[in-house]
Amino acid sequence: MPADRTTSATLAAMKQRGERIACLTCYDAAFCRVLETAGVDLLLVGDSLGMVLQGQPSTVPVTLDQMVYHTRCVSRVSERVLVVADMPFMTYATPERALATAERLMGEGGATMVKLEGGASVVETVRQLTRFGAPVCAHLGLLPQSVHQIGGYRYQGKDVAGASAIRADAHALQDAGASMLVLECVPAELAATLAAELAIPVIGIGAGNGCDGQVLVLHDMLGLTPGRTPRFSRNFMNGSGSIADAIGGYVAAVRSGTFPGPEQTLF
Ligand code: KIV
Repeated sequence: MPADRTTSATLAAMKQRGERIACLTCYDAAFCRVLETAGVDLLLVGDSLGMVLQGQPSTVPVTLDQMVYHTRCVSRVSERVLVVADMPFMTYATPERALATAERLMGEGGATMVKLEGGASVVETVRQLTRFGAPVCAHLGLLPQSVHQIGGYRYQGKDVAGASAIRADAHALQDAGASMLVLECVPAELAATLAAELAIPVIGIGAGNGCDGQVLVLHDMLGLTPGRTPRFSRNFMNGSGSIADAIGGYVAAVRSGTFPGPEQTLF
């Protein structure tokens, strides 16, 4: 691995220095090169590719073969960024299945971290993955793979009970060995509290600007998503002359703390 490759230790050091971490989703080699050149720290090969690239109604139909393929497309050309790959729906339902999934995403796909959704139910899985050398990014708040159970894409943790469950889960996941936490669609105050309490970087999406970093779905922030884009996102192509400029604008806005602003902070 090249010495200047971003790792979970690099991101932890950025958190300690108070430097905000800029992340975007990425599903192919062409965008990987553009995003890396623009200074993005971390690329997430998200299972959002099911909705963004495949036109699926949710992330649930995405398969492990598809995730391995797209992760490989990104990692093959990446030179510096951390490449995080999503474990698809049900492929980490037991610690044994999760180990086999991580073996493929990291071994064949070339990911350097894997991401999974959930709280208490995945704590033992996180412990096993990290015990065997797979760095893990946890994901709390809105869990897109559970959309059929939740009944829609809604903000989570808005009441006291919901917020304290997310807080307890976040601490348990850190204690189990998670290197990073994505918080999706939770109130800004809860996200800021967790970013202050946890040692690991907290990356927000629809979670206000008190997080250690931000992630957006690439096609949303480039204005390529048809129909309504999430209100917590921003179209960085507006006023930009090129995709590279738009990505550079996003990186600068995350670093300076101007994204997300009040318009993108819903709760
Ligand atoms: O799949 C994805 O793109 C994600 C982000 C929304 C964080 O998980």
